[in-house]
Parts: sequence; structure tokens; C-alpha cells
Amino acid sequence: MSRFWSDVVHGLTPYVPGEQAEGADVVKLNTNENPYGPSPRVLEVLRSHINDSLRLYPDPVSSELRAAIAQHNGVTAANVFVGNGSDEVLAHTFRALLTHRDPVLFPDITYSFYPVYCRLFGTTYEQIALNARFEIDIDDYMRQNGGIVFPNPNAPTGLALEVSNIKRLLEANKDSVVVIDEAYVDFGCESVVPLVPHYPQLLVTRTLSKSHSLAGLRVGYAIGHPDLIAALDRVKDSFNSYPLDRLAQKAAIAGIEDVDHVANSCRKIIDSRSRLVAGLRDLGFEVLPSAANFVLTRHNAREATDIATSLRERGVIVRHFRNPPRVAAYLRITVGADVQCDALLAALRAVLN
Ligand SMILES: Cc1ncc(COP(=O)(O)O)c(C=O)c1O
Repeated sequence: MSRFWSDVVHGLTPYVPGEQAEGADVVKLNTNENPYGPSPRVLEVLRSHINDSLRLYPDPVSSELRAAIAQHNGVTAANVFVGNGSDEVLAHTFRALLTHRDPVLFPDITYSFYPVYCRLFGTTYEQIALNARFEIDIDDYMRQNGGIVFPNPNAPTGLALEVSNIKRLLEANKDSVVVIDEAYVDFGCESVVPLVPHYPQLLVTRTLSKSHSLAGLRVGYAIGHPDLIAALDRVKDSFNSYPLDRLAQKAAIAGIEDVDHVANSCRKIIDSRSRLVAGLRDLGFEVLPSAANFVLTRHNAREATDIATSLRERGVIVRHFRNPPRVAAYLRITVGADVQCDALLAALRAVLN
């Protein structure tokens, strides 16, 4: 606390990211990173662009990258916004499109950055409880609102909503923006990007951090009606004209274009997820059916905090959220490569005995 702080800073409760431990002996299953690494083409492009051109500012509108994203998603470049990770895209979205007189609605158990943005921007919000099965019930969102946002699949539950449900919401909710955060969509969930031409109030956010294994590059994007994109551009250009550096713009294009590499690594993760779920169930865990690269799980006898602490002592890092209370009984575990999942299961066997 300092007397120099603004009132806004006094009122913030910043997001706390998962521990970013490094080292060969750490089994890091706490931040939903992809174990397989990015496309080799990304690394090649990065190497070839480390040169004197770095003295120049990057393209402020990332036009080549926007064009590549548009092409791979069957939309036009005017439908695309890019940012420094989807966290930044979401921040601009809260600022540009979700801050109105009526509260923005999002689930009580969801990406915990959403309420953080609201406090930063003075956005009023209402958290809608997931149902008893931890699902988003679309009917609970059919009410007056200043916008709606949730991930599909949801995080940290991993549960996916069918497109027909989101379509029903869009049909009923035409006067405010509906944001679908598709950070994990490539791990077994259907995208709503094809709905964008039909619903001017729909904005879809995506990231290269998970399926493209580029969390370290910080590239995210949004797809929506050009009017929504224009609002995001206005906020971006009132905040930082150059959110993506020259290397990130080039490398992101290479990552997006290597469709086979992305599909391969997602397939391996989906296979490992089935193995991991089976292994956890054998050890007495209840596991929610996940369409993401993580699972939400709780043990039938042992406290989640105890398990997380004991795993950490053995060099295995998983994520435990203390809030809201309903989720505190669970652990969120990233699906790693089989060798990491096996190390986790071995550590769990030791912890539970
Ligand atoms: C649901 C959800 N949305 C967005 C993000 C942000 O991803 P990034 O800023 O790496 O693009 C995350 C990161 O974990 C997430 O879980």
C-alpha cells in the first residue's frame, strides 16, 4: 500500500498466474501448456528474423497475421483482431464491448481473469452459478445484461457446450455482445466461428498458447463483426499501438500455417487425456469429462490442498484454486505427454499410500 497509489490501484485484486517453475526435474502440469513444443517452422522463422530489422517498429495492425488468421478461419481480415495473448484481447473486449450500465454475466466457476478485468475497468458484473453438474445452463443467461462471456470448453471445468446451445443464446440475446472464449476449443469442442457472419453481436476469442504450443510468444486473436473489431482497434490504439512485436507476428503466421503439426499435437494430447482420466479413476478420483487439455478432478477421500502440497514436494505441480468454495475440493491438472502423466500418477500413488 502506498499513498501514491490511485484509487483504482487500491481497489484491484490482480490475477495470480500459476507457478512458472523451470527445470528438467519438474513435472509442470499447472498452466495448461502444451508439452510438445511449437512447429519447427516457427523456430526457423524466428531465427531468420533475428536481424537488423528489429530496429524498426512492427506493423501496428499486424496485417499479414490478420490475413493468415482470416484465411484459416474462413472469414475476412476485417473480422480479425490480434493482441498480446488472448488475455490482452479479452482485456480490450471488457473495456470496449462489455462495460455498460447493465452487468456483464459470466459463470461463477470460470476463467478467474474475468472479474479482475471488471475491477480494473469498473465493469459491473454478475456471476451465474454453474448447475449441479458444473455445466453452464444457457437459460440462466436469458436476462437483461451488458454482455455475456464464457469459455467453451469452460475453464477450469473442461466441460463443453454444444453449438446449438450457444446459437439459442444468440437468438435470444441480440442487444449485447456475447463473447465465447475458445482458448481450448481445439482439444475436442466445436467452434462457433462459423456463426460469426450470422450474428453481429458474437465475438470469439482464441489463443496460440495452447493448441499451437506458443504460450511464450503471446499471441491471441478475436473474430467478430467488423464493428466489434473496430471497437477493439480503438481501445488498442488508445493503449499500445504495437502489441505484437516483429518476431511474434512472423512466428504466429508460421504456427497457424502448420495445420498438421497442430492437429498432431492435439491428437496426442486427447489420447493422453483418456489415459490420464483412466489412471486417475483407478486411484479413486472423480474426473469431470473434459474437452480441454486439462482435467478437473477430486479424490474421494483426500483433501485437494494436501494432495497438491505433497505433489509439489515431489516436483509435480498441479493447480489448486481456493475460490469459489465449490471448486476448492478439486485439482486442475494439465494433460502432459504420457511420460509426465505417468510421473504424476506414480507420485499420486505414493502420496495416497
Ligand atoms: C479460458 C482462458 N482464456 C484465455 C486464456 C489466456 O491465454 P493467453 O493469454 O495465453 O492467450 C487462458 C489461459 O490460461 C484461459 O484459460
